Amino acid sequence: MPLVSTKEMFKKAYEGGYAIGAFNVNNMEIVQAIVEAANELKSPVILQVSKGARDYAKPVYLTKLVEAALLDSNIPIALHLDHGDSFETCKACIDSGFTSVMIDGSHLPFAENIALTKKVVEYAHAHDPYITVEGELGQLAGVEDDINVEHHSYTNPDDVVEFVTKTGCDSLAIAIGTSHGAFKFKPGQKPLLRFDILEEVSRRLPNFPIVLHGASSVSQEYVKIIQANGGKMEDAIGIPEEMLRQAARSAVCKINIDSDLRLAMTAGIRQIFTEKPDVFDPRTYLKVGRKNVKDVVMHKIKEVLGSEGKAF
Ligand code: G3H
Ligand code: 13P
Ligand code: ZN
Repeated sequence: MPLVSTKEMFKKAYEGGYAIGAFNVNNMEIVQAIVEAANELKSPVILQVSKGARDYAKPVYLTKLVEAALLDSNIPIALHLDHGDSFETCKACIDSGFTSVMIDGSHLPFAENIALTKKVVEYAHAHDPYITVEGELGQLAGVEDDINVEHHSYTNPDDVVEFVTKTGCDSLAIAIGTSHGAFKFKPGQKPLLRFDILEEVSRRLPNFPIVLHGASSVSQEYVKIIQANGGKMEDAIGIPEEMLRQAARSAVCKINIDSDLRLAMTAGIRQIFTEKPDVFDPRTYLKVGRKNVKDVVMHKIKEVLGSEGKAF
């Protein structure tokens, strides 16, 4: 099956009260783990590529890996640029076959964010009206592309209609208290998401797909394995799964997950290094990491996103 855009996926997810997982890919093992999990559970899936992933793997390797995944599966897969930082990056991805891009102008003044997002939307839709563009309003705390944002800047619901109308974007990422990375709350701090903002945004933008970034739950099981095997991740805390389930039932149609995959891969590799110090064949430990990532994606699809069986 060829790549699909997120248009149909989001329409069905909105109506069906579930969300599509958008998982970050950086290498072959991660692509395989995500796609095998989604394929086995007959779930649609979004594979997303960040600027960091493009720098690490080279764009052509990632697009070819995704091409291979399409041949090896039978589910709707969208290929998305995560946190596009410029018109040029978005254009390069659109020109090379991505079916969805994010232009992240969330750090810019409102008018500049609108102008940049509009420029990307115009290019994307002229290239192919089927391609979807995600914009962002509000800023998440956490580390992203090596930039550390200290505090949340929650999305202002008063801005969303003007932003969507003027830019023509197809989906909107909002800031309601999620954050990037594995340290989302301080120890002892009660996890809080501003569902009131989400509700108000969706009231003002009926039937419009909303995106949540920074939505890893940071499995304490994997944190413990990493800690027990020489890692240093104390106080790693994520978004409680129940909150994400609640979001998935609402206007949130896309939930971004990267840190949970990194933790699963790292836990597997660290464990093998401790248990079998004689191992030096990368396949031996990458296989374990890949299995962990697949388990995480299956768990997300079944227990958090609700997208199992929604491929067709
Ligand atoms: O939101 C950021 C994603 O987790 C991608 O991270 O820029 O380190 O690839 P990265
Ligand atoms: P996490 O760091 O919570 O996995 O978020 C990933 C993300 O938002 C990618 O855009
Ligand atoms: Zn993000």
